[in-house]
Parts: sequence; structure tokens; C-alpha cells
Amino acid sequence: MNGSRPWWESAVIYQIYPRSFQDTNDDGIGDLNGITRRLRYLVELGVDAIWISPIFRSPMKDFGYDISDYVDVDPIFGTMADFERLIAEAHAHGIKVILDFVPNHSSDQHAWFVESRASRTSPKRDWYIWRDPAPGGGPPNNWLSEFGGSAWEFDAATGQYYYHAFLNSQPDLNWRNPEVVAAMHDVLRFWARKGVDGFRVDVIWHLIKDRQFRDNPPNQNYHAGRPPNEALVPLYTTDLPEVHDVIATLRRTIDEFPDRLLIGEIYLPVERLVAYYGRNLGGVHLPFNFALLSARWDAKHLQALITEYEGALPKGGWPNWVLGNHDRPRVAGRVGQRQAAVAAMLLLTLRGTPTIYYGDELEMPQVDIPRHRVRDPFERNVPGIGIGRDGCRTPMQWDGTQNAGFSSVDPWLPLSDNWRSNNVANLREDAVSIWNLYRRLLRVRKETPALSLGSYRSYALDGDLLVYYRELDNSKLLIALNLTDQPQVLTFEPGASGKVLVSTGADRDGEATTDSLALRGDEGLVIEL
Ligand code: GLC
Repeated sequence: MNGSRPWWESAVIYQIYPRSFQDTNDDGIGDLNGITRRLRYLVELGVDAIWISPIFRSPMKDFGYDISDYVDVDPIFGTMADFERLIAEAHAHGIKVILDFVPNHSSDQHAWFVESRASRTSPKRDWYIWRDPAPGGGPPNNWLSEFGGSAWEFDAATGQYYYHAFLNSQPDLNWRNPEVVAAMHDVLRFWARKGVDGFRVDVIWHLIKDRQFRDNPPNQNYHAGRPPNEALVPLYTTDLPEVHDVIATLRRTIDEFPDRLLIGEIYLPVERLVAYYGRNLGGVHLPFNFALLSARWDAKHLQALITEYEGALPKGGWPNWVLGNHDRPRVAGRVGQRQAAVAAMLLLTLRGTPTIYYGDELEMPQVDIPRHRVRDPFERNVPGIGIGRDGCRTPMQWDGTQNAGFSSVDPWLPLSDNWRSNNVANLREDAVSIWNLYRRLLRVRKETPALSLGSYRSYALDGDLLVYYRELDNSKLLIALNLTDQPQVLTFEPGASGKVLVSTGADRDGEATTDSLALRGDEGLVIEL
């Protein structure tokens, strides 16, 4: 707690994709002991919490997002004892641990589904979503899977179809069934009792589907080259009004335990996203704000997007920002290597809890994966349109030794090609590296409540610069980001002067500023006024 404010408001979250962080048992795949081993690194960097993508028992068809036992650790990642040690050591290092909770679907190998598909009269039949074929045969309706093809899979033995929003090995659970609800709430309690500090809830806006199973309408704006499921508007499959009741009950369970955080994964336009704070803020604490993941990298556009988001937040709703994750192209690939430092400064100076994706502090690139090494089922099902997710999941680059210090054997995904230069060991020694910029920003953020908790106010737009204030009590900061590669001049308000606290190039820290300030191309400055 920070005074009376919950810990996550001033915290910085770091997302770990566990397969790719640190291998300790020589199988080319990261594990829990690897995370434990690297806790000191996370302390050195200066983050407050880690969110670990799924570590539960899974056939790994979707790399852990297909769970066959919600209350066990997959042997590939280690044992329950390893997990307990990780939690204890993380806490001893002052780091909170957030787990992934995947309630929308299980694996088809989960005992619940095995029982459900065994017969139409199985007591668990209604735990999943089963429907008869359409009157003339074929799938019950036109719903599409996010990963390509129909969302309905025929089960010949029982003559019905089951619904799967993702792979056909990821059947959707039926959240209209109270037994499912009770069982899944017990999963949350199980991990909360183990000391987990919060959950990131996978595809939370998918949990409830139309009771009448109506066809989704066609999307008039669909064009070739987009994922095939976008051919329909998901009117009857996602973001249904009743989902908010389901989420409110999840929140009540979380609130049985003190100081736990609930984050929702939600890809929706801002006005619908903010509904996930819930009535009277009884929904998730942080509906992930993914606006920066697809934003055009231009000052005017970003300013408008920030203003829109700030304006849409409900009273008391705490903002958050995400620059990268395991499903979207790396930020360095999206905005270009030269803007990566500016993007880091943006993420860590906006108002709201930031989430850093592992490796972005090293400027890890979006990697082109050769066809024979593709592992992502999405890319395998819908090849060639650039939606593959392996390229942002490559191994963490620790040092210049074999396999970048990630593993003693060939890693499950290839390394990027900048690992020899952009690794922790190297960048740590380089005062002007992006890694040291992340570290300085994290330190200044921690030392400066105006940055972590202060208000946000947009500065009158100055050319191609993105400029804003962060203020708390008597502390006032100005952040100026040059989103172009050309020099720009920022004119201050009359009488204002200040001092540079952090510069992306690390060479202007401490510089005094008077009525105007020249920024180099691709430069960003945090100025104390
Ligand atoms: C979420 C996860 C993604 C996964 C999907 C299905 O979007 O982030 O990695 O494939 O859900 O569980």
C-alpha cells in the first residue's frame, strides 16, 4: 500500500513468458527455477511485480493457454515446490507475483471435458457448450474460431458439436453453469492461498455467449489479409452485457483476500473497454489498455488517444498502459529501433500502471521465424498473413555465451539476431543503452510520486512533439517526446524553467532549461519544472 492507495497503482508490472525466460534443466524451454534464479535481475531493473503467462498442466497446444489441470504446475516448468519457492523468494525480494487465469476454455484433455464428451447424459455435459447440428446438418451456426475455421467441432460419438473460440483442443467452458462458476472460483482461491498477488484473466470479454446462439453478422469492413474470424462482427460471442455479472463475482472472490489485483485481457474500443471497471468499480481493477499496441506512431494521434482514454475512465478507475505482450509484434519492430527509447519513456511516464514485456528493455526485435521453426498454432492454422506470435516470444538475451545464456541446448524458438549486442550483460555496462534508460526511468518513477501517481495534463500540441505534464502537490514534470527523426524545438510557457531529469540519450540529465528546448531526432526528455 502507498498510503491508502492499493499497491498496483504505483507498481510497474513485468510480463514473463515462462518458456522463453530462463532454462535451468537443459531442455531448451524456460522454467520456474529460471525465474527464481533471475529475481535479482528484476530487482536490479526496478520492477515491482511479475505476471507469468500460464504455468499449469497443459498439453501445450497453445503453449499453456490450454489447461488440463488448473491446480497443478506443468512438469515442463517444474513442480509445485518450485512454484512455492518462487513465490517465497519473489516476496523476499519485494516482488509481487501475478498468475494467468484462463477461465474461458480448458484443454480437451482436462478431466472435465473428457467426462463431458463421454456421453450426452454425462453430469459434466453442460460444463461445456454442446449443440445439435443445424437442421440441415453442419455446424449449429456461423460462429468462427479466432484461430481460423468454424468455432464448432463435431463429436461423432455423441452426434453434437462443441464450441471453441480458439483451437478445437480448447473447448469453451459454460459460464452459465453454476457448477463451472463454483469450480473456477475455487481455482482462484487455491492460488490466492498460495500467496499469489493477483491474476491476469485471459480473454475475459469472451466468457458469456448468446443464449440463443444467433449468427454473427457479416463485417462490412473485412478485407483479405485480415484474420478470417474478422469476417464476422462478434456481436453474439463476445462482450455480452451479462459478462459483467460474471466478472463482478470473480472480483468478490478476489476480495476475499486482501490486496489482490485482478487484470482483464480485453481487446475492445476504449468506450467498451472502460465498462470492465464494472458498476461501482466492482469489475476488474485494471482492464488491460492495449491502445498503444496498434497506435499509429505520430504525436497528434497519440495525444488524441491518451486524451480519449483519460476522458473515458470512470471516476476512481485507475489507468494502465501496455506496450508489448506475447500476442503482438515487439515494440521495436512496430515503431522502429530508433524510437524504442522514446516508446519506453512514454510507457513509463504516462499516468497508470505500466506493463513491460520481457526483453523490450533490451530492444529485442520482432523475429522473422523460418517456416520450419514455426510453433505458434495460430500461424500454423492461418499461415502467411503475418499474425504469427513466435516472433515476439524468442528467448531472453542474457549474455554473449552460448544461446545467449538462456539455455545450454538449442532453444525451443530461435534467438533473435541482435542477441550478441543486445543482451543484459552488454547493455548493463553501456551507460547510454536502452537497458540503462529503462532502469533510470524506473528509478525516477519510484522516487517521484508525480510520475507514478500524479495527474496527467496534455500540453498544447507543439509540432511533432508529444508533450504532457505530470503533477502532484508542488511537484511538476514535463515530458517531451520527439516522435520523428528530425530535430524539434519545444517552446515553454513564459517564465517556466526546469531541469532535465532523464534524457533518452543519457547525456542531458541535469541540463537546465529556460524558455525553449531543442530536442534531437528520436529524443525524449523528462523535465522537472
Ligand atoms: C489470449 C492469450 C493468447 C491465447 C488466447 C487463447 O489472447 O493471450 O496467447 O492464445 O488467449 O487462450
